[in-house]
Amino acid sequence: MIRIGMMGLGTVGSGVFSILAKHGENIARKVGCDLVIDKVLVQEKDKNRGVMVDSALLTDRPADLLDDPAIQLVVELIGGENPAYQFIVDALKRGKSVVTANKLVVAKYGQELFRLARDNRVNISYEGSVAGGIPVIRPLKESFAANRVEKILGILNGTTNYILSKMSKDGQEFETALQEAQAYGYAERDPSSDLSGLDAAYKIAILASIAFETFVDVNSIYVEGIEGIELEDIDIAAELGYVIKLLAIAKNEQDGLDIRVHPAFVAKDHPLALVNDQYNAIYLHGDAVNDVMSYGRGAGQMPTASAVVADMIQVGKDICQQRVDTLNFHFPVEQTLKNINMVENSYYLRLQVNDQPGVLAQITKVLGDNKVSLASVIQKHKLTPVVPIILVTHRVKEEAVNKSIKMLKQLPDVIAINNLIRVEAL
Ligand code: HSE
Repeated sequence: MIRIGMMGLGTVGSGVFSILAKHGENIARKVGCDLVIDKVLVQEKDKNRGVMVDSALLTDRPADLLDDPAIQLVVELIGGENPAYQFIVDALKRGKSVVTANKLVVAKYGQELFRLARDNRVNISYEGSVAGGIPVIRPLKESFAANRVEKILGILNGTTNYILSKMSKDGQEFETALQEAQAYGYAERDPSSDLSGLDAAYKIAILASIAFETFVDVNSIYVEGIEGIELEDIDIAAELGYVIKLLAIAKNEQDGLDIRVHPAFVAKDHPLALVNDQYNAIYLHGDAVNDVMSYGRGAGQMPTASAVVADMIQVGKDICQQRVDTLNFHFPVEQTLKNINMVENSYYLRLQVNDQPGVLAQITKVLGDNKVSLASVIQKHKLTPVVPIILVTHRVKEEAVNKSIKMLKQLPDVIAINNLIRVEAL
């Protein structure tokens, strides 16, 4: 029998209990012994959670789990940085294996935690930290181990994908779609981390660290959220044959790692363009396997609980067999990421300009002077003195585009630069 201490009994924790109640016997057979949750750390013991958990298991004292030598596995489902990080450290130092779904802690402190696990000869697993129910961490470590992974493109945030899908399919306003995503429980407690792209940045940092056998510092990733995307951009994207997605991108290129999170134009016929609503997907290219895409629910109670219980089964098996999973322990040096200015893309640029003779010529001159070549130019006909102009460039370094934008802002006939969105060449 493996005794487990669970930390947190929120949405995912309750899901873990319900899976264990439903499939306990089957799970015990897979592990080779029973998994028994012995104690559950909660903030308020008397809160009504609507979940069938024996109240005798509940405690509000972390030491009841951490100092109990009979507990061999700690399942951390508190979320956030602290005290979750400290509890994981304490558990590992006391020789307990850990399962966590905490992307922030794994992205920020992964290397330190893996070392602690190795030094204390225990395991740490975190499948639930990225893309909820979609298996991606174990496949990256095991199923794709024979490959040089060259590229990962992920839709890794359900909230933003839900918002962009609703704007795109139903013409819904940003705020309304956000409220719906919150009501469904996809969004973080503070949705700014979803909207700003930070949530996806933690996730791609974890995936890129495994895929490229390095340590990617989340603070060095270029991150841009979806706050600036307007219905007009979505409509123009559709006219041009694209949808807008918040992409988490990780490319292992000759001249360095290119890792970034931002909204991007994705061609309508690409499989990622079909990933809608709260769904997540990971599109990966390996030199042997070629292209692979996984799709599913990246958030929510049961999908995340599915990943957590799978980790509990795996770690439970390792504990039963007194095995330490060495795949967790890679300690490579940190790599410098390519600066966003050095990255090459095509760009969509939407401007508001005075509808006067020669204005387009001034704009194209600025772009030409910076060696930015245009793939298409659209001027929307309107009976107003100020009209929108949409430019799509050929592939060019971001540096040149930024320089052009600075110069365009100086032109008296350029009233506003509404948006700049990268076109992902898939
Ligand atoms: N808030 C996240 C999302 C789910 O919207 O995808 C947990 O990572």
